[in-house]
Amino acid sequence: MSISKTTTALFQPFEGGGLKLANRVVMAPMTRSFSPDGVPGPDVAGYYRRRAENGVGLIITEGTVINHPAAPADRDVPHFYGEEALAGWQKVVHEVHEAGGKIAPQIWHTGTARQRETFPESNVDPIGPSGLSLTGKPVSEPLTKQEIRELVQGYAQSAADAKRLGFDAVEIHGAHGYLIDQFFWEVTNKRTDEYGGDLVGRTRFAVEVIEAVRAAVGPEFPIIFRFSQWKPVDYSAKLAATPEELERFLAPLSAAGVDIFHASTRRFWEPEFADSELNLAGWTRKLTGKPTITVGSVGLNSEFTSLFESGQGGETTGIEQLVERLERGEFDLVAVGRALLTDPAWAAKIRDGRVEELKPFTKESLATLS
Ligand SMILES: Cc1cc2nc3c(=O)[nH]c(=O)nc-3n(C[C@H](O)[C@H](O)[C@H](O)COP(=O)(O)O)c2cc1C
Repeated sequence: MSISKTTTALFQPFEGGGLKLANRVVMAPMTRSFSPDGVPGPDVAGYYRRRAENGVGLIITEGTVINHPAAPADRDVPHFYGEEALAGWQKVVHEVHEAGGKIAPQIWHTGTARQRETFPESNVDPIGPSGLSLTGKPVSEPLTKQEIRELVQGYAQSAADAKRLGFDAVEIHGAHGYLIDQFFWEVTNKRTDEYGGDLVGRTRFAVEVIEAVRAAVGPEFPIIFRFSQWKPVDYSAKLAATPEELERFLAPLSAAGVDIFHASTRRFWEPEFADSELNLAGWTRKLTGKPTITVGSVGLNSEFTSLFESGQGGETTGIEQLVERLERGEFDLVAVGRALLTDPAWAAKIRDGRVEELKPFTKESLATLS
């Protein structure tokens, strides 16, 4: 059977969570660090445009930081505040829309992932719920409630700007051990006030962020929320060890106004809990009744963290199992990271069955915005 027949489900239109998409292929958010002084230029706009032209249904941009001095952990990541950066983003939206695509910014604060050495000229301290690094080491003072309120407003302001600039949705980055996830995780959240305590208590900051974003964008604008069980220092970490815990974790987030959950895993085929084949996106869909995005090694034979650990690339693989799961309704949308970073035409090639033209992922592809 040709690949185009096996991939039909991937190219079915999607309507849900306030979004209408031409197909199920989502570009995963990927930091590229090509925005000097935080301003995305024409090269960034062209990079996203090429993905839209080549059949990606929804682009989620690289993480782009909210208006807070300690938000970025890397140099040259785009800002989502300030006239120049927002004007750059407006061009990005324009190009993507002109090419027939849809796009959401991923709004981000890195919390204590910020390293002082990365910004030697700056005297801004990293911040986190308890001022702890991901290994539990004290790096700054716990956040005050006033600081928490300001951070919540920072997310809300970015979301309001996303809507104003014409983006189609906003994604809140609540995954991978960054600020929101540092509130979720017991290793980094030792607070005894209402922002800490048990798993549900630790969702409070995220709930306030989602509620403030909802208030800023109104009832119709889609809010995507990305979360992960794994942390960069511990791939086997789990916020929720059972489906019951996952339900308790997701319920407040869902009630606060999330439209679509983006469940970040490194390998989409891994069951999240014993006695079921469902992955994290599958469980999330089942427990919340909301549409979900899956992600993790789609079309490649290695997981993305091996890139950061050893510079490893990945060979192309078939996506039959992914499509089967999509057909079964385990999840609604499929995010693709490295395969789309390396090849703007990945989606079109898959759609048209041009398998022999698919490119392997190499770390060299990070050097340019192809
Ligand atoms: C270069 C690179 C940068 C990334 N930056 C982000 C990011 O800014 N925000 C985020 O949520 N995930 C980020 N990720 C994770 C991806 O969104 C995705 O979850 C991961 O690469 C797994 O998908 P893949 O196996 O298809 O590459 C990044 C991944 C890569 C390879």
